[in-house]
Amino acid sequence: MTGRSSLPSSDRHGGGGSGDAVCPVTAGGGPDGPRTKGAGAAGAAQPAGGRPAHREPGRARARGTGHARARRRDRRVYLRAHPLLFALLAATRGRPVRRIGRTVLVHEADACREVLTRLPLDRTAPGTTGGAARSALGARKAKGTLNTGNTGDAGVLFDQDGDAHRALRRTLARDLGTAGVDELRALWRPLIAHRLEPLAAGGTVDVVALARELAGTVVRALLGSAAAPQAVAAAAAEVAALSVRGELPGLPRPGARAAVARATARLRHLLGDGDNRGDEALSAMVAVAAVNTTVAALPRAAAWCADAGLWEQAADDTLRRSLAGELLRVTAASPLLPRVAAADGVAGGCPVRSGDRLLLVARHAVGAHASGPDALRPAPPGVARLVFGAGPHTCPGAGLAGALLEDLLAALAPYRPAVVRARADRRAALPGWRTLTLRATAGRGQR
Ligand code: HEM
Repeated sequence: MTGRSSLPSSDRHGGGGSGDAVCPVTAGGGPDGPRTKGAGAAGAAQPAGGRPAHREPGRARARGTGHARARRRDRRVYLRAHPLLFALLAATRGRPVRRIGRTVLVHEADACREVLTRLPLDRTAPGTTGGAARSALGARKAKGTLNTGNTGDAGVLFDQDGDAHRALRRTLARDLGTAGVDELRALWRPLIAHRLEPLAAGGTVDVVALARELAGTVVRALLGSAAAPQAVAAAAAEVAALSVRGELPGLPRPGARAAVARATARLRHLLGDGDNRGDEALSAMVAVAAVNTTVAALPRAAAWCADAGLWEQAADDTLRRSLAGELLRVTAASPLLPRVAAADGVAGGCPVRSGDRLLLVARHAVGAHASGPDALRPAPPGVARLVFGAGPHTCPGAGLAGALLEDLLAALAPYRPAVVRARADRRAALPGWRTLTLRATAGRGQR
């Protein structure tokens, strides 16, 4: 499954070649600075044929459309939780790559891919995903060893490199590959059907609660835990929320580390409550990675589908996969990838120095801010897949996430549900809904 992640670097849709991007440090440029040709640079998604495929209609025309309604609602998950960060990222996206002091903001697809695949990264630096995972999940580097895959490095994937990283990924490959996902489908399909039954009777369904149960069920099955799915999901969400809060810049938060440690212990206890693999740190990491992304992605995708009136496409067996991929692209569940350079290099034509902080804005790189989901003309895989990262660390759960969303869309489609209530989650580690209530507008559930 991870083989599906190889990304064509010459893809024009996802941004002009990195040679087009002019380093903001050295370039003059107007207020918006130089722009690349593609999705991540200035917002317009430009396919190979030069046709602006994914751009939504002009603002005025789009205001009344379903896509505009979907986008307006979806923006709330960012604005409620991180309004300042959202504003900063939006304000800086006019340039594909922009340096602010020792921080380099990367908004464009080719430049993001370049960082993830070619630039040596410090996987354990504080403030990065790897550093946060390492400090939250308690893995320890043996004294005196480098984090290069040597023995003694009890890593959690995100913070690893080299042989140890490859070896640990192999332990997940079967479970998250096609055969593993098919087995999981047999678990989650009946659960989805059962939980959607209230729609047939004119009732409502909270897709966030369902997503939590689905994610918990998947994690339980993957890790051989006997704990209740909802408890696993709640514990994994707590670890991520506390750990993100602890990493935010600002005043020191006394007790933050201890709170993360307690939440991690709770999660490990739950996961260890069964036929566990014995690798507690990795198990906890898989739980955190799977739960938080799934709980963010599925409800946002369902809301977008409902608001934009895409249920016909969701019901279509030939279009559903493409629609799911597009919904994962525009919702970009993990919208910001914080990394630190471990060596001097280049990102999108801009020199990067060892120790520079790199903020990879996946949301902009895939054109999520600029173009709605289009199952008939989807973004090229090399662009859309960037929501799952790229290179050796590319998300091993991408196939699972796509299959789960496809099945949820297929099960919801006959009801053509509409959103009756949506409340953003201000506490969650990733932008998402706290509740997302749907009611049928078609089928037996229509009133
Ligand atoms: C919509 C759902 C998901 C999104 C958007 C997502 C996104 C990502 C991203 C951006 C990365 C970092 C990739 C990089 O650094 O290049 C990642 C890594 C990872 N994801 Fe996912 N993910 C999702 C679902 C899942 C699921 C369902 C699982 C497990 C069942 C999972 C397990 C992992 C693991 C273990 C890693 C670390 C890989 C490594 O460092 O080698 N993810 N994910």
